Amino acid sequence: MLLGSGELGREFVISAKRLGAWVVACDSYEGAPAMQMADAFEIFSMLDGEALRAAVEKHRPDFVVPEVEAIRTEMLAELECEGHCIVPSARAAQMTMNRDAIRSLAAGQLGLRTSRYRFAESLEEVRAAAEHTGLPCVVKPVMSSSGKGQSTVRSKDELDAAWHYAVDNMRGDQARVIVEEFIDFDYEITLLTVRTREGILFCPPIGHRQERGDYQESWQPAPMSAAVLAKAREMATQVVDDLGGYGLFGVEFFIAGEEAIFSELSPRPHDTGMVTLVSQDLSEFDLHARAILGLPIPEIALRGSGASAVILADREAESFAYEGLAEALAAGDRVDVRIFGKPVTRKNRRMGVALAAAESTDEARAIAARAAGAVSITYRS
Ligand SMILES: Nc1ncnc2c1ncn2[C@@H]1O[C@H](COP(=O)(O)OP(=O)(O)OP(=O)(O)O)[C@@H](O)[C@H]1O
Ligand SMILES: [Mg+2]
Repeated sequence: MLLGSGELGREFVISAKRLGAWVVACDSYEGAPAMQMADAFEIFSMLDGEALRAAVEKHRPDFVVPEVEAIRTEMLAELECEGHCIVPSARAAQMTMNRDAIRSLAAGQLGLRTSRYRFAESLEEVRAAAEHTGLPCVVKPVMSSSGKGQSTVRSKDELDAAWHYAVDNMRGDQARVIVEEFIDFDYEITLLTVRTREGILFCPPIGHRQERGDYQESWQPAPMSAAVLAKAREMATQVVDDLGGYGLFGVEFFIAGEEAIFSELSPRPHDTGMVTLVSQDLSEFDLHARAILGLPIPEIALRGSGASAVILADREAESFAYEGLAEALAAGDRVDVRIFGKPVTRKNRRMGVALAAAESTDEARAIAARAAGAVSITYRS
């Protein structure tokens, strides 16, 4: 049973079904990307604990696989106590739903290098936190994703606006933010880390570029020194071992010189990891499925350099069509497109992704960008 049915869930359903799984996809709206691939679906808010329990009791799934952060995680913990298998673990879902829990675990308990930070629940506390982190700093709601409510503050007089922006764009009802030191990183990576019964495996690092807190393009392998990669792997191992369970995790790091700075993680496939659909023999979705089911995973091999570039909508519409697929698929020899099948568009909503493999990541990035740019959405309403 998949909780959340977006584009990452959709690819996961395909991977799981190829191995013979029967999948129930859940989300708050009908026709969600993963539902279109699944055997059955249920519609309810993932934050509604009783509805979540009712769906689990109705279908009695062997595995409950969260696909989104915003879930009534207390219910996952209850269900786990009653013997249901939550992927990777109820603890992982609980610790990563809010930024404060995972940050306190990584920095406080495990002692990993992170940006300096402090939590704040009022404008006064935000001001005090910024004294601690220094400027510039980044203000984020503790409950939010895809960059929502997040802003970079360069001078003290912007703190007021940053606090209000965070509160206006957060999830949940408790106004709480994290104020983080701004890290002037050289580049950032996602380290896909697979926790299996046999031990931990890593995919080659994925580089990515973000805008408005949302990923625009990613590439693999991200060139980096063996020493800093080793540090990132060590840190990822510590966090996923603490969270427990089996599955794939997307662990995000900022890299500055020879320093790896832990940022956050998803206990599930990561959006920047869509590149693995073209760059690896087993994609991040295949790996998640195998790790969950306890199936063997051979050494993770790269097919070559790869890249992904997102296809975004620029307005809200219920009736629309895609054009330019022929041109997109002619952008290179090893290029592909995934259209997610989302029923409605919104401004900056991710509707698809272009994927390219090539001799080098630079070449793959150029081809993926060209292919993504060739796809256009025509709006009819
Ligand atoms: N402390 C920081 N210093 C510099 N850049 C930052 C910092 N925090 C976040 N960013 C930038 O903003 C991006 C999004 O931040 P973060 O991953 O914390 O938010 P998010 O909303 O969870 O995003 P997503 O859900 O897309 O991963 C980062 O990938 C990075 O590019
Ligand atoms: Mg992130």
